[in-house]
Amino acid sequence: MARLDGQVALVTGAARGQGRAHAVRLAREGADIIAFDSCGEFVSTTYDPPTLADLKETVRLVEEQGRRIVWRQIDARDVPAVTSLVEDGTRELGRLDVVVVNHGICSYAYTWEVTEENWDEIISVNLTSVWKVVKVVSPYLIDQGEGGSIIVISSVAGVKGQPFLAPYVCSKHAIVGLTKTLANELGPHRIRVNAILPGGVKTPMAGFEWNGQKGEQNPFAGELDKPEVAAQLGSIFMNALPDRWMEPEDISNAVVFLASHDSHYITGTEVRVDLGSTAR
Ligand SMILES: NC(=O)c1ccc[n+]([C@@H]2O[C@H](COP(=O)([O-])OP(=O)(O)OC[C@H]3O[C@@H](n4cnc5c(N)ncnc54)[C@H](O)[C@@H]3O)[C@@H](O)[C@H]2O)c1
Repeated sequence: MARLDGQVALVTGAARGQGRAHAVRLAREGADIIAFDSCGEFVSTTYDPPTLADLKETVRLVEEQGRRIVWRQIDARDVPAVTSLVEDGTRELGRLDVVVVNHGICSYAYTWEVTEENWDEIISVNLTSVWKVVKVVSPYLIDQGEGGSIIVISSVAGVKGQPFLAPYVCSKHAIVGLTKTLANELGPHRIRVNAILPGGVKTPMAGFEWNGQKGEQNPFAGELDKPEVAAQLGSIFMNALPDRWMEPEDISNAVVFLASHDSHYITGTEVRVDLGSTAR
């Protein structure tokens, strides 16, 4: 018997990267899936967005596991659209047990050079719309009355002051706080809430090409090659383990653990899947 047989999991930002890996892995563990992605441009990002075809490929890969999936191309900032998907998905699949709030965007600049437009967009996607998703799903999980697991994807930037990433760092710190608050509020209902803090993962957000889509071009990568800058800031981006990057599936392992009964007494915590980056 698979670890999530008979369960239903919602995954946000599921068109590619980590979100796709989580949806496929949760399906392999027996869960039916509700998934969405905006598949659209953001003013603050310089890397290519995924396409509707990417989201449809996630759908195909989930179905290939023998699981059902209810999906839509919608934006997490759109509460009526998220509400409608959760209503339709739970009606069709019967229930909701696991929620992986994974979507996010990233952009590099010195703090004093971030435009107001970019600041507002990154905060609204990475913080406010994470709250919007949990606002929609929490009453459903409470009413269902059978507990559940909410997994919020933060980052090592959720506990470190990474330079050139102020709105990203602020949003990722804030959702760690949101996770802990929610864990206290939802604990009486046996709904667990945990954050995963990934280190570097090979996706377009981290500069890697994906299916022809251009990755984020970090304008500060060259800066860090300068000995005087590297001496001051370089260690922030170093890992304890000898590898630099992880695969999306490395994060899915932690998602499945937090979704399953194996972690049934773990709530309100940060699971750092970061190659030891936060130990530096
Ligand atoms: N890649 C890394 O090195 C890394 C490290 C730490 C944390 N993270 C976090 O992991 C999560 C997944 O990122 P990824 O690495 O897979 O990057 P990615 O860019 O490949 O995937 C992010 C997905 O989220 C979707 N998305 C963004 N905003 C959305 C919105 N408002 N509504 C719906 N969908 C939206 C995008 O379209 C995209 O498909 C993000 O929260 C990111 O901040 C990434």
